[in-house]
Amino acid sequence: MAILITGGAGYIGSHTMVELLEAGRELVVVDNFVNSKAESLKRVKQITGKDFKFYEVDLLDYDALNKVFEENDIDSCIHFAGLKAVGESCSKPLLYYHNNITGTLNLCDIMQKHGAKRIVFSSSATVYGNPASVPITEDFPLSTTNPYGETKLTIERILKDLHAADNEWSVSILRYFNPIGAHKSGLIGEDPQGIPNNLLPYITQVASGRRECLSVFGNDYKTHDGTGVRDYIHVVDLAKAHLKAIERAETVTGVEHFNIGTGVGYSVLDIVKAYEKATGITINYKITARRPGDIDECYANPTKALNVLSWKAENNIEDMCRDSYNWQIKNPNGYEA
Ligand code: NAD
Ligand code: UFG
Repeated sequence: MAILITGGAGYIGSHTMVELLEAGRELVVVDNFVNSKAESLKRVKQITGKDFKFYEVDLLDYDALNKVFEENDIDSCIHFAGLKAVGESCSKPLLYYHNNITGTLNLCDIMQKHGAKRIVFSSSATVYGNPASVPITEDFPLSTTNPYGETKLTIERILKDLHAADNEWSVSILRYFNPIGAHKSGLIGEDPQGIPNNLLPYITQVASGRRECLSVFGNDYKTHDGTGVRDYIHVVDLAKAHLKAIERAETVTGVEHFNIGTGVGYSVLDIVKAYEKATGITINYKITARRPGDIDECYANPTKALNVLSWKAENNIEDMCRDSYNWQIKNPNGYEA
């Protein structure tokens, strides 16, 4: 039996594929390359020496997705496919609602039809909105501040309702904190299009000379140095959590939510220092205005993932910075030749 990976060509999907293939799992992968390149899939094969079936399919194309299930014995799915840029979701809400929610509705309907009732879903710490305190546990109140976050929360609710209606479903909702870093081989990593929105890809491009200076968005937050604090997690640790989640979903039915973070918060300036220490390169930065919508602090209590999934993050912040840089220098233009 195979695991369907939606969005497998993307940043987190490609790293997860490596872990699953190395664990001997059979994979079927779909992606429409709206935010990725086919090259990442070639690199996954290069790292693992293993093969998998791939379909260039949009989740919005019901018939094409249904055909993937007709042609393969799929019993579970790890569902990464979705659009993820917070700013763009505010300017194009309909695109985000349609792609992320309709895509998931199609997927779940087809899974149900084919008796594949096991799903691991990529949610986000964004569903905690502006948390009243940190660290965050899974039972914190949920809210969102943008259409992207709204799609994550809505999908979480859809999956809960699906299980309530048919308790054969096994639903594992992974709420990722801030994934960074890259595979140690330097063959796969994050490949943002245009100017990076997120901190680590931006710093990495400053380190490699592709950008001049990092803008630190505000230094008057309620944190130890005034800059925003987040829970950065190595993407390979995050990828490993998916293997644990699938193994768990194979033994229990129900709906479970897990924070996938390290439990440690780092400020923007802590990250700049860690990056400099890991690479020996000075990062030019300037303090600028706050970015609208940003919160002071966000970090996980990941104890539930440890207790239930036997998973915990193993890489430290310097590993994350070093591996980001290694990917960047080996691939100065990402997956572009
Ligand atoms: P990514 O953009 O690199 O990967 C997503 C993949 O899904 C891409 O390859 C894209 O082409 C594909 N895709 C999108 N819409 C599709 C559709 N309709 N049909 C088929 N394929 C489609 O993003 P990522 O960083 O790997 O994130 C994976 C998942 O994790 C996303 O759901 C994202 O929202 C979630 N997430 C990411 C972060 C983060 O910081 N990277 C944090 C929390 C949650
Ligand atoms: N930051 C800068 N300069 C930059 C980019 C970011 O100072 O150029 C700061 C931000 O203000 C924030 C911190 O760095 O304090 C982290 O910002 P990111 O954009 O890297 O990450 P966010 O925490 O804002 O958001 C990320 C994902 C969201 C997801 C959220 C929680 O982008 O999709 O984590 O999982 F919802």
